[in-house]
Amino acid sequence: MLDPSREDSADSQRGSEAGVTFETRLTDSPEEAAAFVRRGLPVAFPTETVYGLGASVYDEQAIRRIYEAKGRPPSNPLIAHVASRRQIDELAARIPPAAERLIKAFFPGPLTLVLPRRETVPPIATAGLETVGVRMPDHPIARVFIEAVGSPVVAPSANRSGRPSPTTWQAVQEDLGGRIACILTGGRTRAGLESTVVDCTGDIPVILRPGSVTEEQLRRVAPQLHTRITHEEQLARSPGTRFRHYAPEGDVILVDDPADARDAAGAAYIGIKAPTPDAPFGLIRICEDEAKYAFELFDFLRECDRRKIQRIYCQRPGSRDIGAALLDRLDRASRGA
Ligand code: TXA
Ligand code: MG
Repeated sequence: MLDPSREDSADSQRGSEAGVTFETRLTDSPEEAAAFVRRGLPVAFPTETVYGLGASVYDEQAIRRIYEAKGRPPSNPLIAHVASRRQIDELAARIPPAAERLIKAFFPGPLTLVLPRRETVPPIATAGLETVGVRMPDHPIARVFIEAVGSPVVAPSANRSGRPSPTTWQAVQEDLGGRIACILTGGRTRAGLESTVVDCTGDIPVILRPGSVTEEQLRRVAPQLHTRITHEEQLARSPGTRFRHYAPEGDVILVDDPADARDAAGAAYIGIKAPTPDAPFGLIRICEDEAKYAFELFDFLRECDRRKIQRIYCQRPGSRDIGAALLDRLDRASRGA
């Protein structure tokens, strides 16, 4: 299926799992990556939040391959990534006034708007929902890639389902090497946490998933914004929140104070406040503020896995600004399967 002259390239990696069929091509060329997508093969690509695993919104077979490669439950819809206003109109049947204001203020950027979808958007892209999540990434490589594909690109985060999202191409390779045809390489992502998902289909916008754009920032443009939906409502409206997520192999334990991290020997710790200097943690990461903590979290959880750390203590962040998204991820990473 792939260019045979590239089979033995030093840039390629053969997967080792059973049933694996791909040489995973690493490329820094958005045009080369887009050519894979046009042939129906999903490609991982960088955005400002985390790496995504993309296919054309109109390619149902390729979208099936995304779900397969990730091991993603089919009931969890994908975000459609666009490079222009024209592509938003191509996907959305209607853009309510509040959505217009949010687009003006935050696109391109780490914000996903859930909008009524057009009939032309295949149901498999939205897990059968009548809505579509739309986001315009603020990342030069992602934009050139989407333009080269020539249609909106649906993409979940490029991790195996349930694992921490990838903030480097190496993390993508760890999870999906051998399972996908191509990784478009870029540097480490800028934000570290995923986009904020806001449902704009009703009269009042509702945050379905906190993320890199904070509630406080959104409120300046949409003062009525709803955030406190019930757990049941969240499950109904945002299928992705139903699943255990962001979880490393070890147990994630939230602590208010590093001194509450007992059994430090061999365990790991991440937070803003440092633990007592003589605590024998196997791995410690101290972050200067919550933004840095958010930036570091997924990378840190993966490092814990590489070192086979079984207990991971994470300082509980506050619930304001980026702390809300960080707390959401930590909370879900710490939940049992
Ligand atoms: O930053 C991000 O959002 C990254 C990058 C790659 O763009 N993408 C990402 O995708 O995090 P994923 O699939 O891991 O998470 C998408 C979230 C899920 O919680 C999903 O349920 C929700 O967005 N979502 C997508 N479409 C939706 C829709 N039509 N209605 C409600 N929720 C939707
Ligand atoms: Mg994800």
